[in-house]
Amino acid sequence: MAASTATHDPPSALATPADAPIVRTVALSKSYRRGDQVIPVLVDIELEVRRGDFVALMGPSGSGKSTLLNLIAGIDQPTSGRIEVDGIDIAGLSERELAAWRASHVGFVFQFYNLMPVLTAFENVELPLMLTPLSRSQRRAHVDAVLGMVGLSDRAQHYPNELSGGQQQRVAIARALVSDPSLIVADEPTGDLDRQTGIEVLALLSRLNDELGKTIIMVTHDPKAAAVAHRMVHLDKGVLGDEPEGTRGVEDRGRA
Ligand SMILES: Nc1ncnc2c1ncn2[C@@H]1O[C@H](COP(=O)(O)OP(=O)(O)OP(=O)(O)O)[C@@H](O)[C@H]1O
Ligand SMILES: [Mg+2]
Repeated sequence: MAASTATHDPPSALATPADAPIVRTVALSKSYRRGDQVIPVLVDIELEVRRGDFVALMGPSGSGKSTLLNLIAGIDQPTSGRIEVDGIDIAGLSERELAAWRASHVGFVFQFYNLMPVLTAFENVELPLMLTPLSRSQRRAHVDAVLGMVGLSDRAQHYPNELSGGQQQRVAIARALVSDPSLIVADEPTGDLDRQTGIEVLALLSRLNDELGKTIIMVTHDPKAAAVAHRMVHLDKGVLGDEPEGTRGVEDRGRA
């Protein structure tokens, strides 16, 4: 890793201004309908996430954290409101457009890794690239690079059941990273890991944020995990609030 200056430069310039938020939700709401009953899950969520930020999303079970993450990642669609990611209103995209958008813009890390058991670590990481025009050798180069980055070059030919939980999560992180998305969302990425392994996975996420400038939004129940983030937001019964008192982690590095 090159010796770096003290500045925290955003990743390469895009069409949007460098200081524009990478994620912005406007009056974002989600409710479910069961018979004639409407169950509100998210209510008028207004969230802005700066490019290069690392945000911890916390809140009680059932408060809507996964729902919000899935909306931002384009896995689910809102009942109303806007979700702008990198200047695109993804709530306005069709299923097909959304799938294509997701493949290049966002990497997802799940609590239970969600690896394909019949594929090796290499093949699991390669999977998102099968949807791209990259050649086989180009895919190999990308997969080798990200497996190296997560420290698993020597496990490329292992199947998930031949890997520890922490290794499986690192494969999942490599898979999230392989298409070089600017945004990584992680839903309780350490929720299934022992403490030490969880710390290693958090350190890896921190590196992706620090060294590669990836914006990360991470759901967690663990205040220690949240402390590695730069900012905490709190959901309670579908309503968003910033930084509940006494749970502040690392000092916010950016502007107030
Ligand atoms: N398909 C669905 N139909 C009806 N209600 C749903 C559906 N999916 C989720 N919900 C409800 O939405 C609410 C929020 O769920 P969500 O999974 O986002 O919570 P969470 O904050 O991630 O909780 P946890 O910390 O337990 O993972 C819950 O009350 C849940 O029951
Ligand atoms: Mg959840």
